[in-house]
Amino acid sequence: MESKGSFVAVGLGMMLGAHLSPRSRSEIEQADAVFALVSDAIVELWLQRMRPDLRSLQPYYAEGKRRTDSYREMIDAMMAEVRAGRRVCGVFYGHPGVFAQVPHHAVARARAEGFEAEMQPGISAEDCLYADLGVDPATYGCQHYEASQLLFFRRRLDPSAYLVIWQIGLTGDRSLARYGTGPAYRRLLIERLVEAGYPPEHEVVIYEAATLPIATPRIERIPLSGLAAADVRLQSTLAVPPARPMVRDEAMLARIDAIDASIRAGESGDATPLDVRSLES
Ligand SMILES: C[S@@+](CC[C@H](N)C(=O)[O-])C[C@H]1O[C@@H](n2cnc3c(N)ncnc32)[C@H](O)[C@@H]1O
Repeated sequence: MESKGSFVAVGLGMMLGAHLSPRSRSEIEQADAVFALVSDAIVELWLQRMRPDLRSLQPYYAEGKRRTDSYREMIDAMMAEVRAGRRVCGVFYGHPGVFAQVPHHAVARARAEGFEAEMQPGISAEDCLYADLGVDPATYGCQHYEASQLLFFRRRLDPSAYLVIWQIGLTGDRSLARYGTGPAYRRLLIERLVEAGYPPEHEVVIYEAATLPIATPRIERIPLSGLAAADVRLQSTLAVPPARPMVRDEAMLARIDAIDASIRAGESGDATPLDVRSLES
């Protein structure tokens, strides 16, 4: 019987050899064709020991070539194997679904063409950040944005929540073809954050998770105003702690108290009318 192709995107995690789940390992071992887009050449060599037939997606990137063109070619290469009836595994560093377009689009394309496709999670830079910086996203809430998106669009930042800004090394790259932008672009990002209520002297962290077991994470604390001149790399993520306390919503707390009281009094608690005005803002 002719076999039907399938696609799975798996995450390698951030640290070489330390974060790969048994499930993802088994997908890599059992696939007919394995493609990889990982953080560096050492990781690729490590994967090649598991799969000597590994096909790197890295050569699709080139300075001056739009990343969207590279992504399309990567997806085409993997889909050609799926259409040929093979079980295809795409291996990506971190979590394949976190700030990563190719795995999401490849899964969607395979499904749209009638093939089975799924994603297996991995340990992302975000997960490492929570562990290394001792941050629990529940404490103040946590916002995640891509650096350029913060400049290209008007977003509503909440300075009483934690803020994580991804791809600060590519801040403001409208060409989608560069592999690093400079201080002038990051100055605009500083301006944006100051506008949103983060003081220039507010302490922020340039964070880089360790990718080798012998390495330590980079945790560089600087004032927000120092971001333009800082050594920012492609793998840098900016962590911005809250700059303001959370403001208690006394009116809402009073309404909750009223519901609690009515339940205690043996009523249903449903008597409080819906405040539509509060939903309109
Ligand atoms: C295309 S995204 C890939 C993220 C990846 N899928 C993950 O799960 O973390 C690249 C961005 O991830 C972040 N990143 C990548 N490597 C990192 C590292 N070692 N430490 C901290 N952040 C990292 C940076 O913000 C970088 O610009």
